[in-house]
Amino acid sequence: MRPSLRGAAAALDTALGGAVRGLIGAGEIRAAWGEQTLLHSLGRVPAQRVLVMGGGSPRDFTLDRTRIVAADACRALTKIGVRHVGLMLPEPEGAAFNAAQATQAVVEGAVLGTYQFSTYQRPKPGEGRRLDRLSVLGVRDQMTALNEAIRRGWIVADATNAARDLVNEPGNTLTPRVLARRAQDMARAAGLQCAVLGTPELRRLGAGGLLGVARGSAEPPRLIVLTYRGRRGGPHLGLVGKGVTFDSGGISIKPAENMEAMKGDMAGAAAVLAAICAIAQLRLPLQVSAVIPATENLPGGTALKPGDILRAMTGTTMEVINTDAEGRLILADALAYARRRGVTHLVDVATLTGACVVALGTINTGAFSNDRAWQDHVVAAGTAAGERIWPMPMDPEYDELIASDVAEIKNTGGRKGGAILGAKFLERFVGETPWVHLDIAGTAAADKEKGYLTKGATGVMVRTFVALAHAMVAKPAAARPATRRRR
Ligand code: BES
Ligand code: ZN
Ligand code: MN
Repeated sequence: MRPSLRGAAAALDTALGGAVRGLIGAGEIRAAWGEQTLLHSLGRVPAQRVLVMGGGSPRDFTLDRTRIVAADACRALTKIGVRHVGLMLPEPEGAAFNAAQATQAVVEGAVLGTYQFSTYQRPKPGEGRRLDRLSVLGVRDQMTALNEAIRRGWIVADATNAARDLVNEPGNTLTPRVLARRAQDMARAAGLQCAVLGTPELRRLGAGGLLGVARGSAEPPRLIVLTYRGRRGGPHLGLVGKGVTFDSGGISIKPAENMEAMKGDMAGAAAVLAAICAIAQLRLPLQVSAVIPATENLPGGTALKPGDILRAMTGTTMEVINTDAEGRLILADALAYARRRGVTHLVDVATLTGACVVALGTINTGAFSNDRAWQDHVVAAGTAAGERIWPMPMDPEYDELIASDVAEIKNTGGRKGGAILGAKFLERFVGETPWVHLDIAGTAAADKEKGYLTKGATGVMVRTFVALAHAMVAKPAAARPATRRRR
């Protein structure tokens, strides 16, 4: 089938003297997904160049493709030194999205796709080119709605890039104390409260999991707590993020190969921190608390040993079988702490298990929950944001595998169903609060540039959390199910 030009694209082509239609007629533009054709406008329109992006079949053209096409276009243009890009909204036939959604998506794609982490590299000649300015070409009578969509897209993408910066930062420069300071700076800029708890306060609270893991390192742990009160009463979202600034495995030390990737073991922390700041900037009318247990996991002389027993903030005793299963030990305390703050809904996010990477690869984040309705909400928010989340089973039979002979639970139960066992461990600390655990071990970093993802940190779940907060205030009744169904 011949590709077609519609709406604004057709008008632009008319201004270009039908150059695009001509190339379509000649078979040079087939509009296949991913196809790029660069035209020089020779003064016919105010832009020097026009990049024609193939959209593939209109049936397959989703909102996420909108992000990808914007990212690819902006990246291709920055590479040839273009500093100001004007993006035209896609208008596929029978689109399942409106102009405001498309606007937010192109802004997200452009800002995410041109992300660079260049703190530690001096630019080589011709490199380090950046986009200075982005324009969205829209319809005049929708200006207010589209400007609002631009603002939303920019805030959420900028927050995602802030999370990426934190994850890409190495372990020597981003210690728990530095993470806490960065959280305070970001909180101040977003108009949020931020409290940082150190060792004495953690002792008083009985946070044995966090203190236990931190014992292997000379760097002291931190519990970082951010609070946003967009409204009194109503739903109170608790976001808990694993903040292991470097995970060597501890005494159960990891192999050297790829260990450097463990500087990103605080991707959950980065996601909740960036998300609560974005929610505050968007002034969404709900309460949100973010709780981040931050520590290193190192094999120092006073480190945790296999066989050690720790007591979490709830009093639950935990036997340490493997010191590399440290995430669940620190999250136990953080989940308990979040519950004490009175959250009505809980989500935790963590680079928790290699088993989740085996199960779902790098495409889907794993979801584990004690509440079907709440999990459906979180999965739907992911879909809306273009982040894929896949629900995993939580049958009670798995609990037997983490029963300990000497304590109440143990931190590993063998390799079989490893991602589920991690979630089952965390479930012991959430009580009756509707809770979803998101395992981002596979999705927190990308091994190559793809669409709006750049190599390295992805900032995954920032967009989902913002979409979730949006949905909670749009449909408060649905976010608070009348009858809870256990699964
Ligand atoms: N941070 C790791 C999980 C991880 C692995 C994240 C690969 C990203 C990529 C976690 O602390 C860990 O070491 N988990 C262990 C648990 C096991 C000992 C039960 C694992 O997955 O091997
Ligand atoms: Zn870890
Ligand atoms: Mn580990």
